[in-house]
Amino acid sequence: MNSNIVLIGFMGCGKSSIGRRLSKRLAHEFLDSDDLIIARAQGTSISDLFATEGEERFRERESAELRKLLEARNIVLATGGGSILREENRSLLHRIGKIVWLHADPETLFERASRNRKRPLLNVENPRSTFNALLESRIPIYKATADIQIDATGLPQEQTVDEIVRVLAIGGIPKAAPKAS
Ligand code: S3P
Repeated sequence: MNSNIVLIGFMGCGKSSIGRRLSKRLAHEFLDSDDLIIARAQGTSISDLFATEGEERFRERESAELRKLLEARNIVLATGGGSILREENRSLLHRIGKIVWLHADPETLFERASRNRKRPLLNVENPRSTFNALLESRIPIYKATADIQIDATGLPQEQTVDEIVRVLAIGGIPKAAPKAS
């Protein structure tokens, strides 16, 4: 059985740190798509890749790394926050494993996402308004892509891992039915 887990979610939601802990708990290998991209680019940082090649080329690199993971087994994969933007990636992620959307309230996300300058999309004149616009446009995509969603607001990391393990074991919280129009 494929027991891979894929973590999606906005910048700052904790995909990498939670993913690392979750991988230990499950005795899985931990992979981070940003790190795979950096390694393939001989150590060039994400910010430098954005600056020299542009976002579109970065997205190509992201898709290329995901394609390589189709045969992977027993992994926890932390994805970049924008990996769900391409339809191709969404389908790849479903084929790779069970998709967990790690969410938190906007204040927590913004505080964590803007702690360092490693996130080129927020390295702009008005990061808060860019953050708001990106978050708003992406939430529906995370929601539609995820098999399960976990709200990590205020939860210590180990408890977030507990919650993922608990929810996965019971097959996930069903998504809310679409509102009748
Ligand atoms: C991005 C998120 C980043 C990284 C790149 C683009 C995005 O990853 O892939 O800066 O579009 O949201 P994290 O979500 O790990 O910060």
